Amino acid sequence: MTFIDDLLARMTLEEKLGQLNLVTATLPLPEDRAADIRAGKIGGLLGGLVDCSFGVGGPDAAREIQAIAVEQSRLGIPLLLAYDVIHGHQTVLPIPLALSCSWNLGHVETAARIAAREATACGLNWVFSPMLDICRDPRWGRIAEGAGEDPYLGARIAEAMVRGLQGADLADPESVMACIKHFIAYGAAEGGRDYNNADVSPARLADVYLPPFRAALEAGAGSAMMSFAAVNGVPSHADADHLRLLDGVLRVSDFNAIPEMIAHGLGDEHGGIDADDPLQTLSERALRAGVQMDMMGHGFASRLPAALAAGRVSQAEIDAACRAVLEAKARLGLFDDPFGRCDQARAARNLLAPEYRVAARQLAADSCVLLKNAGDLLPLAAPGLSVAVVGPLADDAWNILGPWSFQGDPASAVTVLDGIHAVPGVTVHHARGANLVEDRRMLDLLNFAGPKVTLDPRPPAEMVAEAVAVAEAADVVVAVLGEAAEMSGEAASRMDIGLPPGQRVLLEALHATGKPVVLVLLHGRPLTLPWEAEHIPAILATWFGGCETGNAIADLLFGLRNPCGRLTTTWPRHVGQVPLAYDRATTGRPGSRDNDPGKYTTRCYLDGASEPLFPFGFGLGYTRFAYGPPAASASQLGPDDTLTVSLSVTNTGARSGEEVVQMYVTDPVASVVRPGKQLKGFEKIVLAPGETRTVRFRLTTRDLEFHTPRGDRVWEPGRFVIGIGPDSDTLQTLTVHWRR
Ligand code: BGC
Repeated sequence: MTFIDDLLARMTLEEKLGQLNLVTATLPLPEDRAADIRAGKIGGLLGGLVDCSFGVGGPDAAREIQAIAVEQSRLGIPLLLAYDVIHGHQTVLPIPLALSCSWNLGHVETAARIAAREATACGLNWVFSPMLDICRDPRWGRIAEGAGEDPYLGARIAEAMVRGLQGADLADPESVMACIKHFIAYGAAEGGRDYNNADVSPARLADVYLPPFRAALEAGAGSAMMSFAAVNGVPSHADADHLRLLDGVLRVSDFNAIPEMIAHGLGDEHGGIDADDPLQTLSERALRAGVQMDMMGHGFASRLPAALAAGRVSQAEIDAACRAVLEAKARLGLFDDPFGRCDQARAARNLLAPEYRVAARQLAADSCVLLKNAGDLLPLAAPGLSVAVVGPLADDAWNILGPWSFQGDPASAVTVLDGIHAVPGVTVHHARGANLVEDRRMLDLLNFAGPKVTLDPRPPAEMVAEAVAVAEAADVVVAVLGEAAEMSGEAASRMDIGLPPGQRVLLEALHATGKPVVLVLLHGRPLTLPWEAEHIPAILATWFGGCETGNAIADLLFGLRNPCGRLTTTWPRHVGQVPLAYDRATTGRPGSRDNDPGKYTTRCYLDGASEPLFPFGFGLGYTRFAYGPPAASASQLGPDDTLTVSLSVTNTGARSGEEVVQMYVTDPVASVVRPGKQLKGFEKIVLAPGETRTVRFRLTTRDLEFHTPRGDRVWEPGRFVIGIGPDSDTLQTLTVHWRR
């Protein structure tokens, strides 16, 4: 009998259900929570728990709480201590969407490792990260928390996140259990409306939404969280067919999501419900479907005893769920060393360690995407330059941290103004120019958890006039505009994804001065910027870069680093185009780029082009690269052959720089309509001026697989077009034939 069998055999029903109960806690821990821990009625705590905001009080608080479970409960089972550590903990790092734009898996792993070290230094052993939801609709605020629109890139990033969080050994006190979320297709919410449902074909689920989860499972992720959404009519918390795909990892509900299935209008598998106690019906159903831990739903603990007595759930189902929780705790080493992550000395060393800030600066810079640089306006030459740093985000230390940055301290964040001030030889003038938003209702929504967005009471025209005067006196204008942190993240969808109107008025006024304007964007999603892209000479998308934002942006603006980020989402021209992704399937009437009014069968939108403003994979730098012609190792291949495609890339500019060489595959004729192209490989290289490197990609028939409408995973022989280039829209192609 194993240790866990033995433990299970000694547990009462109440203690078993206690393990399935995940609840919130604040500090100091309320007495009723402590009493429940003592009574074995709680398996884990989340959020608000570790008071380590600006100090190192965390591990002691965690130790005290853990001691209640280990030393004062009958069986001494340690607690899972969980938190939403989404992009760094105290050292706030770029938001996940930003980091994905680095296309640098080493950076992703480093970010996850830093987060794990800091989280575990605060006593945490479980983080609700990474979010692996593929998203093609920038209206959805939670696009900020994921890795963009592509399943292949998303899968590679998922693996790197799991490696970084969990380390080589989950029992290591510096490792933390990852929780892959939100299973499944949460990012497909209709209309980009948060918490909404989606209708997704099984083939699309398998080919687009599942790959990051599959990759994370193969990398050993310890747990998974269900999504609030119903997919194809069934909320994920009740979908046994989907939850089976997560066998072997701890499956936790999202916050209060089991009771929320009542509002979904869900009953049991036959459509019935206990009208007096619907939570009874849905707690039973969630357990039967495979949910093992109930986050703040309270139904598992309170309703399953009656369900068991009535034979509506089995002892085996309860035991299996309890075993999953205990096994996760065992993998974390908590039974051997429950206090291993409560180490004051390590906290003092690890939290906000200087080397983490160095990394934060590099990660933030490498996440930025240079979208436009007409006339090589950037980089700016510092000595003697007078710069007007204008805009509501220029001197904002709160919002640069981004959504989901509860432990970040704005006092230690470097604003864009600070960063530019620190550049030697530059004279800086500043004006706010506009409020982030003027709309009072929006302001209240953004400030729901504390005042992050302030309102300058001056009339907008007065603020613009002040900014114009500052701009006119300078050589160059850096306009720092965009979104507030809380304009993305959970429950933060937007219908209009352009710059808020007051900021746009400011930008037009700055442009009208005739001074060169560099638009530095802070944002949690792709924005629609057709006017800006036409009129403003230089545009740098910086997302929310975290605590080193200002230094990272200054490094790029003044050429200390080369911008090397590439978009991981398609940027639409207009919100009316979404959802829009680069791998959209071909149609029988392919649109023409010129939108020729004479060609009825190729036109689409009457009021604008169909093409995006910036394609997936796009980004500029301060040097140029020349791509040689691609060459294939063979033009005819058999099923077991590996194709190698190679090409040379040369840095033809005067500066060293990074390039993301991307490989896409098209399957032009198949039994079903296929995506126009799909990313199947990429490599980020660094080249000195004049240097040439040969890049090689390998492909096998595994890379050609897709799911049929009947759910079979197949590859179909025939012709394949391989495209290689700097973005999804600029490819050199060659054709090969694969035989069965
Ligand atoms: C979110 C999850 C998060 C959980 C706990 C939910 O509202 O959807 O992503 O992990 O809250 O904070």
